[in-house]
Amino acid sequence: MMSTPLIIQGGMGVGVSDWRLARAVSLEGELGVVSGTALNSVMVRRLQNGDPGGHVQRALSHFVDSTVASEILATYYVEGGIPTGARFKRSPVPSVSPTRTLQRLNIAAGFVEVWLAKEGHNGIVGINFLEKLQTSNLAATYGAMLAGVDYMLMGAGVPREIPGVLDRFVEHEDASIRIAVSGTPGTTEVFTTVSPREALNTIPKSSLKRPAFLAIISSSTLASHLVKKSTGSVEGFVIEGVLAGGHNAPPRGPMKLTDRGEPIYSHKDEADLAEIRALGLPFWLAGSYGSPEKLVQAIELGASGIQVGTAFAFCEESGVAPKLREAVIDRILHGDIVEGEAVFTDPHASPTGFPFKVVQLPGTQSERSVYEERPRKCDLGYLRQVAVRDDGAIVYLCASEPVEDYVRKGGKIEDTVDRKCLCNALLSNVGLAQTQEDGYVEQPLLTAGDDLVHVGQFLRPGQTSYRARDVLAHLKGQ
Ligand SMILES: Cc1cc2nc3c(=O)[nH]c(=O)nc-3n(C[C@H](O)[C@H](O)[C@H](O)COP(=O)(O)O)c2cc1C
Repeated sequence: MMSTPLIIQGGMGVGVSDWRLARAVSLEGELGVVSGTALNSVMVRRLQNGDPGGHVQRALSHFVDSTVASEILATYYVEGGIPTGARFKRSPVPSVSPTRTLQRLNIAAGFVEVWLAKEGHNGIVGINFLEKLQTSNLAATYGAMLAGVDYMLMGAGVPREIPGVLDRFVEHEDASIRIAVSGTPGTTEVFTTVSPREALNTIPKSSLKRPAFLAIISSSTLASHLVKKSTGSVEGFVIEGVLAGGHNAPPRGPMKLTDRGEPIYSHKDEADLAEIRALGLPFWLAGSYGSPEKLVQAIELGASGIQVGTAFAFCEESGVAPKLREAVIDRILHGDIVEGEAVFTDPHASPTGFPFKVVQLPGTQSERSVYEERPRKCDLGYLRQVAVRDDGAIVYLCASEPVEDYVRKGGKIEDTVDRKCLCNALLSNVGLAQTQEDGYVEQPLLTAGDDLVHVGQFLRPGQTSYRARDVLAHLKGQ
């Protein structure tokens, strides 16, 4: 493996860990990670905002297939940007058999984000995916590899087949994964395939670099399963505890809630580090490890270092919309970010059914009234589950879609309660909110880990913002 980082900046959200943040961390010698989630939507909306700075266009001018780059610009680029409040033209929604157009968009989007993060330096850059987004991940992975991505990280599932996909993409070969089908296990198996040679008119003549694969997990059982059963090599693990921002693994056994309505975890939910160490692969600890003391502790426990998200999510280079970032910092400075109250581990918000950490911030969907004002709609579809009907037809369900649609397709009504549209909210978090046909403007829903209460440690006296470099220097005790 190439140089092993001490600090991994966690892959975050839709566009929170964008190329700017990953680049800033990478330039400091640590592992900067871009989020691979919904990159096609991020790219087409940046283009429709006029591509300030010309970054997307610059990256696309280096894309191996110039016809595809031109097609994307012709379809989505708007010089000077669309008027405020106008609707964004959307990318097609993900499906198990994506059209050539969608595959090209996903490949190009993966390429653009990693290319920009790596532009003009030799630092290491990773890309992070959620395993559940099976219908989008493959093409973006190939795109990231075209840009020379050094690490790939994947969590929120069992990414057993991904290491083999990386091996196949090295030689530009077709790669497939089996899609997890919800509902009654049937006999139908569903696969999704990406064929670089079919998707693009031109591919590089030489082989690509195979990125190191790190699985994000929370149990040693899963770690050892992945080492033994993966379709290719696993280079290490990020062990993520329940205090981490974003989605958390559900507690073992039946879900029980505290009086406040948060999942109850116990020592059974902690990974067995002795078993992880015995696997002999490097690992990083995550989930409220963002302090110099916790870094030392992680090393003492045999880790190669730590993965940190929350501290980076609110730094200047993060993709979080400045007004939201400033609102959070303002609350920190006024002592309004209180342990046990500032972040709520919501067992219902995410349509995936996984607990999702929500920052309690006025004006965002953490407020019930803001959430209830939103007319339910599913127009992005990243988190849709695939199901096979009795007649063999494939249907797509999201527990946050309009209730009647979900139930008509065979979903249970009780699964729709208090579900939030993370696709639209997360794009809103990074200033790329859609204005829907009915005039509704998608509202944000911020996530952060329990470490949010400690973010003030990175602010120097009198300052109201901090940079990624400040986080790294503080963590390393410099
Ligand atoms: C704003 C935010 C968004 C996140 N989004 C994702 C994500 O999309 N995928 C993922 O694997 N992890 C996600 N995470 C988890 C981070 O990658 C990282 O593991 C975690 O933040 C580490 O714990 P900490 O929050 O205590 O620093 C997110 C974390 C934050 C704070």
